Amino acid sequence: MTATATLTTYKMYIDGQWVDAASSDHFESDDPFRASPWALIPRGTPADVDRAVRAAHKAFACGEWPKLTASRRGALVRRLGDLITEHSQRLAEVEVRDNGKLYAEMSMQTAYMAQWYHYYGGLADKIEGAVLPTDKPDTFNYTRYEPLGVVAAIIPWNSPLLLTTWKLAPALAAGNTVVIKPSEFTSASVLELMKLVEQAGFPPGVVNVVTGFGADVGAPLVEHPLVAKVAFTGSDVTGQRIYEAAARGLKHVTMELGGKSPNIVFDDAEIDNAVKGAISGIFAATGQTCIAGSRLLVQQTIHDQFLDRLVAFAKTAKMGNPMDAGTQIGPVTNKPQFEKILNYIDIAKGEGARAVLGGGRATRPECGSGWFVEPTIFEGVNNQMRIAQEEVFGPVLSVIPFKDEEEAIAIGNDVVYGLAAGVWTQNMRRALTMAEKLQAGTVWINTYRAVSYLSPFGGYKRSGIGRESGQEMIKEYLQVKSVWISTATTVPNPFIQR
Ligand code: NAI
Ligand code: MG
Repeated sequence: MTATATLTTYKMYIDGQWVDAASSDHFESDDPFRASPWALIPRGTPADVDRAVRAAHKAFACGEWPKLTASRRGALVRRLGDLITEHSQRLAEVEVRDNGKLYAEMSMQTAYMAQWYHYYGGLADKIEGAVLPTDKPDTFNYTRYEPLGVVAAIIPWNSPLLLTTWKLAPALAAGNTVVIKPSEFTSASVLELMKLVEQAGFPPGVVNVVTGFGADVGAPLVEHPLVAKVAFTGSDVTGQRIYEAAARGLKHVTMELGGKSPNIVFDDAEIDNAVKGAISGIFAATGQTCIAGSRLLVQQTIHDQFLDRLVAFAKTAKMGNPMDAGTQIGPVTNKPQFEKILNYIDIAKGEGARAVLGGGRATRPECGSGWFVEPTIFEGVNNQMRIAQEEVFGPVLSVIPFKDEEEAIAIGNDVVYGLAAGVWTQNMRRALTMAEKLQAGTVWINTYRAVSYLSPFGGYKRSGIGRESGQEMIKEYLQVKSVWISTATTVPNPFIQR
């Protein structure tokens, strides 16, 4: 039992106020490197959700926010981006502490995050309706794009700040108000972000955060009648549950769900580059990314040679304290996930896959008591095994051989997911064919993991609905209204059909 006096105690942010939960209860958030609690987070209840949604609804309907011109609104969103740049180091440190992400990754990610606020802030006053041609005499018809209302943003634990940003920046730029529910495993960084929301000068109620568990906060948030849209990132199982609940209220949804992405290496690839791409595909963020290239498809002709080089490279990875600049693979973010990954490793062994690297908990001295899993590579995997079909969300790679292009496409697409795919080849015809045939929202050729505020991101099949990022995607936070005006001097007699 930890002395609670040593823990950092957070408050939630509702209606411009820093508050405890209605119940006054808290729960602990762990530091995965030390495998021990470091912060206390308010344990939100349905009453807190109701309060936050009502505040957001009020801020949407009246007060300063709806009166702001689009240019002023955009300037506020850009100001938030500036503050994130200014405080990126602090945000990064909190994320490392609570999530176990590498500081080396986070310091770049928090700085890059500001781009979404600058980009969508700039777009706020470029949301243009149209004057449409008409087939009716003496009429004038135009469209206007309007915000939806209260947006519920439900966030997972793997990249809390970035995934909040992907929703918050366009939602605000479009004129909505937002209630954020971070993951119970990683609430601290999103609460730190609220300090910057406050400092930027958003009117009270425009952005709110309710912390707590899925059943106490997430579910009542999705079901609240004053919520107009749910923007979710997380597992497909929870996504499906949320989609069903949102359907009962006929709400708008966007969903970024899981993946089992194929990273496909042909024998005509630049092998050194492909090795690096395979490594970053699975071991970046300790494999805890929706885009993880967790199935490595290698052409039979180079299979053994490629695997040797891959294993040799992966062996060089340094594990340890995620705050240290030299650390290359950090801990797993939470204990249930740590246990889940170890369980999948056992399942893979039971299915007959052979671990050619790792295959268990990391007991290196520099890992201490943290939740570390050795970078693990399985060979002898066939695509029907559970280790090839299910999202592990950890540093566990399944290597699957293939014969030719046709077989690579068949295996690549033979999963329920379709988030991303990588292709390594120097043959342009092959690259273009693969880009066309792979069922995935993102295809990378001779690279992996590129994402940007400029480009749409999202999933095919069970990997999601709708897209995030890019110019068009602001429409996910807008609805269109058609306005008809008659310029006729008299209204015709309605009883005479014309
Ligand atoms: P989850 O998808 O259950 O949770 C994501 C968010 O949804 C959290 O904020 C959670 O509190 C909330 N939530 C849970 N139940 C809810 C409900 N009924 N209504 C509304 N909100 C609800 O993910 P979880 O439990 O954190 O991780 C489980 C597995 O999901 C992981 O082992 C991993 O495989 C996968 N995962 C995938 C992610 C991805 O981006 N593809 C991200 C995080 C987890
Ligand atoms: Mg934590």
